[in-house]
Amino acid sequence: MDPVRVPPPDLPLEVDLIAHSYGAAVRARGATSLGVGWSTTDVQMLRLSVLCDLLDQADPAVPVHVHDLGCGWGALWGLLQDRTAPPVAQYTGYDITPEMIHTARRTYPAAGQRVRFVLSAHAEEPADYGFVSGTYNFSDGAAPSVWEPYVEESLRHFLFQCRKGMAFNLLHQRRRTDRPMYYTDPQRWQDWLEAEAAPRGGRVWCRDDYLEDDFTLFVRFPD
Ligand SMILES: C[S@@+](CC[C@H](N)C(=O)[O-])C[C@H]1O[C@@H](n2cnc3c(N)ncnc32)[C@H](O)[C@@H]1O
Repeated sequence: MDPVRVPPPDLPLEVDLIAHSYGAAVRARGATSLGVGWSTTDVQMLRLSVLCDLLDQADPAVPVHVHDLGCGWGALWGLLQDRTAPPVAQYTGYDITPEMIHTARRTYPAAGQRVRFVLSAHAEEPADYGFVSGTYNFSDGAAPSVWEPYVEESLRHFLFQCRKGMAFNLLHQRRRTDRPMYYTDPQRWQDWLEAEAAPRGGRVWCRDDYLEDDFTLFVRFPD
């Protein structure tokens, strides 16, 4: 069944300030884990490699087109560029922070036509698989009543652009702190994703066994 067309998300006012903060981080720290707000390279890469579990279920011989929403300086492309099973034929990274997009383009100057970095809060065309790592973590103190509808709208639009599957992570509520971050319950988002994916026959699963403060939800659609 074809998904019903979904409009691009409305962004809450907080998102402007969030882009500003991420811009300052990457200006100060460059293309590093701290430049995108992760405490270490290990936790950044672990999150990204867990997301890539989704590709382990793909036909290893069929090249894929991938979207990355909230790509930062493109760390996910660094992991995907040499992947062979399946090979990534096309990668598009989207980010709301101009400095992130500039840094990504500078980090991968020879990436050529396989790669695009686009200043946008939403994917502009379909792809096979979509990935979202850390994009909704920093909420700048926005109330859940504001943040959750925004995250849903943003993910719903992204999901609409993903033909074969999508994976995203969020911060786990069991490690809630006083920082202005969005912490949540995996079951709340698993229920949401199952409801969104059901009309397309999507299979949903969760991993929360890799870091105390994170979980990842996956959805795969039938071919
Ligand atoms: C924690 S960083 C993670 C970057 C990258 N995914 C990584 O793991 O290295 C979150 C990124 O999401 C971007 N971002 C936040 N909200 C966004 C939105 N609504 N649409 C696109 N990008 C967004 C920020 O500018 C920032 O670069």
